[in-house]
Amino acid sequence: MPKPREITVSVIKADVGGWVGHATMHHELMQVAERALLVAKKSKLLVDFRVTHCGDDLELIMTHTRGTENPKIHKLAWDVFMKATRKAQQLKLYAAGQDLLSDSFSGNIKGMGPGCAEMSFVERKSEPLIIFMADKTSPGAYNLPVFRMFGDPFNTAGLVIDPSMHDGFTFGVLDVLENREVRLSCPEEMYDLLVFLGAPSRYMVHTVYRKKVGEVAAAASTQKLNLMAGRYVGKDDPVLIVRTQSGFPAVGEALEAFAFPHLVEGWMRGSHHGPLMPVATEDAQPTRFDGPPRVIAHGFQLNRGILVGPVDFFGDPSFDLTRQRAMDIADYMRRHGPFEPHRLPLAEMEYTTLPQVKERLEKRFKKPKD
Ligand code: F6R
Ligand code: MG
Ligand code: MG
Repeated sequence: MPKPREITVSVIKADVGGWVGHATMHHELMQVAERALLVAKKSKLLVDFRVTHCGDDLELIMTHTRGTENPKIHKLAWDVFMKATRKAQQLKLYAAGQDLLSDSFSGNIKGMGPGCAEMSFVERKSEPLIIFMADKTSPGAYNLPVFRMFGDPFNTAGLVIDPSMHDGFTFGVLDVLENREVRLSCPEEMYDLLVFLGAPSRYMVHTVYRKKVGEVAAAASTQKLNLMAGRYVGKDDPVLIVRTQSGFPAVGEALEAFAFPHLVEGWMRGSHHGPLMPVATEDAQPTRFDGPPRVIAHGFQLNRGILVGPVDFFGDPSFDLTRQRAMDIADYMRRHGPFEPHRLPLAEMEYTTLPQVKERLEKRFKKPKD
């Protein structure tokens, strides 16, 4: 019997220019991307696609049959971002080409600036997926909600009462500093897992697997622009793909993980802690102090690779209270002004004046008198 064909979902995103400032996306950039991906669909490189945005990030949601890390798919995304950058330059949009760290494509878009989450699987009888996309934050922002979805029985009832989930899930965690990963099995190694996931600026969940069959359940982008470029060049505004239902978290369990607006890194100048606020796509337009950080959730049914959707989940009024709480927290955090823990610890800031200030004041630093 021939092996059933796998479908690949690739979500690749980049900030290639903001409108106005870093707030949102100009519709002409989306049109450029739509046109280019339509050509790719007609030529059968893609099965299907959607173009959307979260804040100032251009999001390409693509399905195909070429597997993850495919050079043709990555080149397609790179070319779309280059085209959109040229449009952003024509329109004099802000920070055109911000996330493109190279002038030429080298085979794999990872390490070149854009964020990328991908997974391949054999489509189930029915395949409900959610694509989460965030702005003004960094990849570690998904650690807490992903743990909630796949590891926390207080969030996901299925872990306790669904026989197909009761064995738990395996989490792949990346150490972005040392560029190596570890797989940990939950619930047996939950406490070890939380040692890492609780430190999201260094350790980031990048893949979750169903334990029994090792099938992929979730994949996140874990690129950190600051480490790639050797300096900070912008927050990396991550994406996350989650398969749902029938042995994976239910749609409502995956969404419930965002009902608590937890503190994430990002916000103004990528240098502050603030609450992650789930919103409808039309509200993913960070304004107050360039924030607070936003996350949107697009639900799709896959039908032989065709994306049936999206359903814009966080537009639901059941997230109104989360948004209200997020704004209360935003207000509280803002009152700290330039003080930690609103401002990030020194090593995590995207902008810093510390070296210059220290150098200028060097001679005035003295040993304290006992
Ligand atoms: C955060 C972000 C914005 C900018 C801020 C200053 O990720 O994109 O908060 O950092 O608007 O931007 P520049 O330095 O481009 O003037
Ligand atoms: Mg920007
Ligand atoms: Mg952004």
